[in-house]
Amino acid sequence: MCLSDGERGVEPLNARKIIVGITGSIAAYKSAELVRKLRQQGYEVTVVMTPAATEFITPLTLETLSGRPVASEFFPTARRPQVLHISLAQWADLLVVAPATANIIGKVAAGIADELLATVIMATEAPVLFAPAMNAAMYSNPILTANISRLRQYGYQFVEPEVGELACGGIGKGRLAPIKTILAAIEELLNSSSELSSKKVLVTAGRTEEDLDPVRFLTNRSTGKMGYALASEAKRRGADVNLISGPSRLPSPLGVRLISVRSAEQMSREVKQWFPRSDVLLMAAAVADFRPRDKAASKIKKQEGLLLELEKTPDILLEIKPLKGDKIVGGFALETEDGLANARRKLKSKGLDFIVLNAPTALGADANQVTVLGADGKTERLSQMSKLEVARGILDRVVGLVRTKGPKEEKTS
Ligand code: CTP
Repeated sequence: MCLSDGERGVEPLNARKIIVGITGSIAAYKSAELVRKLRQQGYEVTVVMTPAATEFITPLTLETLSGRPVASEFFPTARRPQVLHISLAQWADLLVVAPATANIIGKVAAGIADELLATVIMATEAPVLFAPAMNAAMYSNPILTANISRLRQYGYQFVEPEVGELACGGIGKGRLAPIKTILAAIEELLNSSSELSSKKVLVTAGRTEEDLDPVRFLTNRSTGKMGYALASEAKRRGADVNLISGPSRLPSPLGVRLISVRSAEQMSREVKQWFPRSDVLLMAAAVADFRPRDKAASKIKKQEGLLLELEKTPDILLEIKPLKGDKIVGGFALETEDGLANARRKLKSKGLDFIVLNAPTALGADANQVTVLGADGKTERLSQMSKLEVARGILDRVVGLVRTKGPKEEKTS
């Protein structure tokens, strides 16, 4: 076999480093093309194969195409200077698993690291992209759907498979995405992972709970999905992310510092502490507006009726308004009527760069239809989409604002 320079590896200085993980799917042969294309584009590539993958395509093929030894054994016989899974995990700028079987997705979602590839995925801090390929019935299995959703919440990325003819016969969704789609996702991930690299992003999420007595509290239906999606997306773009969250069942996205709070008062305290050290604040939390004026020391006993006296909680955005300076602050508005007018009023009174108007149906839902109102007077209505996609749209806006507000480059003449 004869390889061109691009394929053989005349490596440009500072070439980005990619691990291509291959698992045991009939689509494994397509990863040869992926490795070839990545090398042509100047990336350094190391292939990590699961034992099952080596039944579908030989390590020799991938070693030849990548120009580097293929790793597949957790305890290789040849002596290596470092612990293999850690050195690989630290070497990579990005890890792509193509094809990714239900097995590898399930293992990572469950935290099982019983062979080299799963261990490297769990040990790396680089972005990880899965390109699933499998039988259509397996792909639509609710266990897999839940595993993918769990991994997405942690910040793992996916390139969806295509609908098409499957190796097992029949037509369905499960064919590995075209190589050019996977390459585009890799490019996007590598480029976007540096957009906010020097920025500190503070996100608030979820509801607050305001105690009435030792066993009861006032709260709302927010689950934190929007705020967690924002934190995950900001992290994906390279920001240093702090997430102040009210009670939520969601896992904290990987690499994001989670600061857990319960009440509006606690959230206010944490925001005031972290805001001065942040460049961006995204205030997605559904902060309770009222709390019981007095918290009963013991459980309030059953009685004919109960009159509760409530008092206002701190308005966190108003509290930090005097500290804003040229920091970027985005708020959220939840309205049941006169949405645009109310959102516009909040945008002004709270001194925000933009406000995201949601409908009350957004609370707890996976999808959302939002309208973003900017301090520049522009209004953008996004179509109904997943909260992760909404988060992408919002972070695009943040990146745009960072660029316009950022320090001007000094002229060197
Ligand atoms: N917010 C806040 N502190 C509060 C209440 C809300 O910082 N005590 C923030 C929310 O996180 C959101 C924005 O203010 O980013 C708007 O919240 P929303 O509940 O829509 O409006 P309110 O200001 O509470 O006004 P109202 O309840 O009258 O609609």
